[in-house]
Amino acid sequence: MSAVLDARRERLQEASHGTRLRDMHLHDVPRVHTIEKAVFPSAWPENAYHMELTRNHFAHYSVLEHGESLIGFAGMWVIDREAHITTIGVDSGHQGSGFGRLLFLLQIGRAYALSAHCITLEVRPSNTRAVALYESSGLAVIGRRRGYYNDNGEDALIMWSGHLHRPAFKDAFIAAYAACEVPGMSPVPSKEYVQ
Ligand SMILES: CC(C)(COP(=O)(O)OP(=O)(O)OC[C@H]1O[C@@H](n2cnc3c(N)ncnc32)[C@H](O)[C@@H]1OP(=O)(O)O)[C@@H](O)C(=O)NCCC(=O)NCCS
Repeated sequence: MSAVLDARRERLQEASHGTRLRDMHLHDVPRVHTIEKAVFPSAWPENAYHMELTRNHFAHYSVLEHGESLIGFAGMWVIDREAHITTIGVDSGHQGSGFGRLLFLLQIGRAYALSAHCITLEVRPSNTRAVALYESSGLAVIGRRRGYYNDNGEDALIMWSGHLHRPAFKDAFIAAYAACEVPGMSPVPSKEYVQ
C-alpha cells in the first residue's frame, strides 16, 4: 500500500510542476465548455456557468492551468458546512497523468479553507475512473439517486467524505497535499479537530 501512496505522491509532484490553480472567470467559460463537451456525456449550457459565476454566492469555481493552457476545472457549492462538488473535469489530452487527482485534492484543500466539514458529490456508477479517484481520496458511497441523469436515466452514486477533520481523513489528506506545490492552492489545514 505504501508503494501505491509513494507512486501517487510522485505523480502529484510531477503534475504540480508548471501548474497553477486560480478562480474561474467569465472569460474562461468558452474553454471550460469546450473541455466539458469533449469529456462529459452531456455538458452544461454555457449560461449555467455565467449564472454560477455571477449570481450564486455559494459557488466556488476554479481552473487548473498547465503552462499556458487551461486543462481542468472544478466547482463546489458550500452550504451549511457541506461542500458539494458540482463538477470536475480534465481536458482529454491531459487525462491519466495525475491532473485529476491533483485537482480533486486542491478542491478538498479549498473545502477546508472554506470551513466545510464534509464533501459530497454525485457520480455515475459507470464512471469507474472517477469513482476510483474519489474512493482512493477517502470518499465512500453512501447512497444512490435513482434515474438521476436525464440523458440516459442512469442512477447516481452519492459519495461522502465523512467529517473532514477526523484524523484518518485529514492525516491522509495532509500527507498527499504536501506533495502538491501549486500556486493558488489553499493553505494546509491545521491539525486541530474542528467540530
Ligand atoms: C475523472 C477525471 C477528472 C480524472 O482525471 P485524470 O486526470 O484522468 O485522473 P488521474 O490521472 O489523476 O488519475 C486519478 C485516478 O483515477 C483513476 N483512473 C485514472 N485512469 C483510469 C483508468 N483508465 N481506469 C480506471 N481508473 C482510472 C485511478 O484511481 C487514478 O489514480 P491512480 O492512478 O493513482 O490509481 C477525468 O478523467 C475526467 O475529466 N473525466 C471526465 C469528466 C468526469 O467524469 N468528471 C467526473 C464527474 S463525477
